[in-house]
Amino acid sequence: MSDISDLPQHHDRVLIVDFGSQVTQLIARRVRECGVYCEIWPFNNAADDRVRAFAPKAVILSGGPASVTEETTPRAPEIVFALGVPVLGICYGQQAMCAQLGGAVEAGDHREFGRAFLDVKEPCTLFDGLWETGQREQVWMSHGDRVNRLPDGFRVVATSDGAPFAAIADDSRRFYGVQFHPEVIHTPSGKELLENFVRRVAGCEGDWTMAAFREEAAAKVREQVGDRRVICGLSGGVDSAVAAVLLHEAIGDQLTCIFVDTGLLRESEGDQVVAMFREHYNLPLIRVNAGDRFLGALAGVTDPEIKRKTIGSLFIDVFDEEARKLGGADFLAQGTLYPDVIESVSFAGGPSVTIKSHHNVGGLPARMKLKLVEPLRELFKDEVRALGRELGLPEKFIRRHPFPGPGLAVRVPGEITEEKLTILRKADLIYLDEIERAGLYDAIWQAFAVLLPVRTVGVMGDSRSYDWACALRAVTSTDGMTADYYPFPHDFLGRVATRIINEVKGINRVTYDITSKPPGTIEWE
Ligand code: XMP
Repeated sequence: MSDISDLPQHHDRVLIVDFGSQVTQLIARRVRECGVYCEIWPFNNAADDRVRAFAPKAVILSGGPASVTEETTPRAPEIVFALGVPVLGICYGQQAMCAQLGGAVEAGDHREFGRAFLDVKEPCTLFDGLWETGQREQVWMSHGDRVNRLPDGFRVVATSDGAPFAAIADDSRRFYGVQFHPEVIHTPSGKELLENFVRRVAGCEGDWTMAAFREEAAAKVREQVGDRRVICGLSGGVDSAVAAVLLHEAIGDQLTCIFVDTGLLRESEGDQVVAMFREHYNLPLIRVNAGDRFLGALAGVTDPEIKRKTIGSLFIDVFDEEARKLGGADFLAQGTLYPDVIESVSFAGGPSVTIKSHHNVGGLPARMKLKLVEPLRELFKDEVRALGRELGLPEKFIRRHPFPGPGLAVRVPGEITEEKLTILRKADLIYLDEIERAGLYDAIWQAFAVLLPVRTVGVMGDSRSYDWACALRAVTSTDGMTADYYPFPHDFLGRVATRIINEVKGINRVTYDITSKPPGTIEWE
């Protein structure tokens, strides 16, 4: 949740009340695709004064895993029905709204999961330009309970086999409810329906563009920083790059970027990152070649968590030393994104388990007493990419797959050596080159090679080989939280394997990883 003072004051705002659905973030993305700023707040953290200060022009109630038929389950903050603004309830949100306004919900034995069909019964502003009365429309459902009595003032505008109140409207109060999920792509007109809600029903302007964001964010940074100094850690990833370019535009040479080359980067990666910033932007940039220090500290380390902690803590040391050499700074810029700051409702119960201790520069501000500048903290990843384009970053840079902070260290299970890193870099380069040539790069969230700590016997020419095995990984994902393996054609995999074995000395076997996340993770360590 943003501080109210951070809000884009000149733009309309939509409040999304989260009941813990897996797809609440998609509601926000769809609304923003309509050029309307929105935020997601947990249902139990939306006090009246905060909601009033946020001054939403409309409210959307998300889906959720609980059942309204049980008394102790979540309800919408009453204030949202008293603001005089339009409210749209989705799935659980529709049921909670009906229960709170005098209707009733039953635990259904008409569960609908997946594709369903809607019979459009009456005209409704939500359907304007999309659906005609009498038509049958495809939507995506995921519910067990359903509304079985409407509150006063509502009418039914669409039904489905499992939900007699699949879409409902109270035109005078501008309250709407849908049992289906318009935010998912499996509801083909869902985005347009949400657009009708925020634009036609609520009258939002749709003027929240990246061009506007660029100007406003730069002004906000100038106000926060004044004439003081800012340092920014560049990782080579798109988030820190966009943050740095935006900051440079805002405060010029008050910004210094530090790029720590850990020796765990991919082929020529350090040179490319530095060249891009120096040549295109003339950004004040310090490159620290710390490969020997990192590899020294990692010598003999095989445990994944110790590797990550070693890298994270050394990274902070190196960064800290460089900042001191600069004579200190007052602020640290980070490319934190909105998904990292959304406080989402968890129904899993209990503190979540640490699967991997992700390393970024998170430990820095505390150690160095720096204040944070986070110009991207209201944006989703796709918006950061759009902002990058707006700022003129090269397309090649913007479309780059994510790369983890600990770099190739987590792609060499077991002990890391310079020799293994060199072998891995070569294999990785061939794999990505083939992916680009096949035109598949943009369809994949992340693709990389892993050098397995396994030697296998092969026959090359007339001789026996005894070399390392390599695994290839490629996944599709929307946020890195869940992922599926990418279904490459076999001839593609065969081509890559042949090239790697022929061209990379040290590898004589290639495998393809077809594990999804969960139960696997994307990286191997
Ligand atoms: P996992 O392996 O946890 O990865 O499924 C999910 C996403 O996060 C990236 N990743 C990291 N990013 N520091 C980072 O900045 C890390 O320590 C780290 N570990 C994993 C991973 O590449 C994938 O995109």
